[in-house]
Amino acid sequence: MASWRRRLPSLPLLGLLSSLLLIQWPQPVAEASNAAAAGGVHHSLIRKPTSPNVPVFREAPAFRNGKTCGSPETSPIHVSMTLDANYLRGTMAAVLSILQHSTCPENFEFHFLCARFEPEVFSSINSTFPYLRYKVYRFDSNRVRGKISKSIRQALDQPLNYARIYLADMLPFHVNRVIYLDSDLVVVDDIAELWEVNLEGKVVAAPEYCHANFTKYFTELFWSDLNLARTFQGRNPCYFNTGVMVVDIDKWRKGGYTQKVEEWMAIQKQKRIYHLGSLPPFLLVLAGNIKAVDHRWNQHGLGGDNLEGKCRGLHPGPISLLHWSGKGKPWLRLDSRKPCTVDHLWAPYDLYRPATHSLEE
Ligand SMILES: *[C@@H]1O[C@H](CO)[C@@H](O)[C@H](O)[C@H]1NC(C)=O
Ligand SMILES: *[C@@H]1O[C@H](CO)[C@@H](O)[C@H](O)[C@H]1NC(C)=O
Repeated sequence: MASWRRRLPSLPLLGLLSSLLLIQWPQPVAEASNAAAAGGVHHSLIRKPTSPNVPVFREAPAFRNGKTCGSPETSPIHVSMTLDANYLRGTMAAVLSILQHSTCPENFEFHFLCARFEPEVFSSINSTFPYLRYKVYRFDSNRVRGKISKSIRQALDQPLNYARIYLADMLPFHVNRVIYLDSDLVVVDDIAELWEVNLEGKVVAAPEYCHANFTKYFTELFWSDLNLARTFQGRNPCYFNTGVMVVDIDKWRKGGYTQKVEEWMAIQKQKRIYHLGSLPPFLLVLAGNIKAVDHRWNQHGLGGDNLEGKCRGLHPGPISLLHWSGKGKPWLRLDSRKPCTVDHLWAPYDLYRPATHSLEE
């Protein structure tokens, strides 16, 4: 029993999956089922899901364009997210939240980045959002496998976490701007407003945090090496979170930003210059050089810190996007029946349909 909690972060949805799949799954996954059993799930009554990896979701309503909307051809909104069986419940909630708060929901085109071909994931998207316009791109994990160095949280070291660096290589040429979004967030405003931001010549727009202590994202080794530290000369580097970014894909391509980020990852492989995963190389290349947008577009950190995932409250001010970055994920905490207060803000977007629902009452 002592070990299941520590296993959870590397395998999100584990508790959920094991409750569906106890019979088929060998150790060590079955260990996690103790948690589900304690929650009152009766394994003997569980119906077999159609797929061994993917939870079952209910169908989202059809969202229709308002009268003022152009067509998807003339006024598209491109959104890119990663797609993976482990985070599918988060992805579903994020997509629902975007469509539900949008004036022009039919104008979205989603660009999903996948490391594996998982047909059951695509059929799940199809049945949950029958009207969704989306494309799937295979992200070749080999592109980053040798470049990832261990961070403080295992989940951050997944190759798919690095896929955002390669957006410009994967998306078709007609997409020259995209909103990149993590899968552990919900949007509670019309994201068209973020989409229309004037980038003013910058390659990335995101909320920027200049009061955060920037020093701590890099090691002493980094700051004491004048050659390395000099990279921030002439700019006022501020923290930004890479889970919500508007990216000018053309500019990114032409400026060779993928290579710039990769170069820092190569340096990190040799000398440990930071502790986190995909964020610091972004900061090294872009911090102080982005278009700042209102903080309401990324109320991040709701998952708590990277080590313990303690509950956190909301920062004051208006909110358009809630982001459970950090260790805790709302669906896991809700399932564990020990949710944080903020997790109740995610729950209305949860499309997951527990297989045992009708049997438990
Ligand atoms: C999902 O829907 C698309 C578009 O209708 C179709 O091309 C694709 O084959 C479907 N995928 C699965 C796995 O059902
Ligand atoms: C910022 O963090 C560094 C490293 O953790 C620390 O030495 C420094 O005192 C901090 N600065 C401020 C202003 O808190």
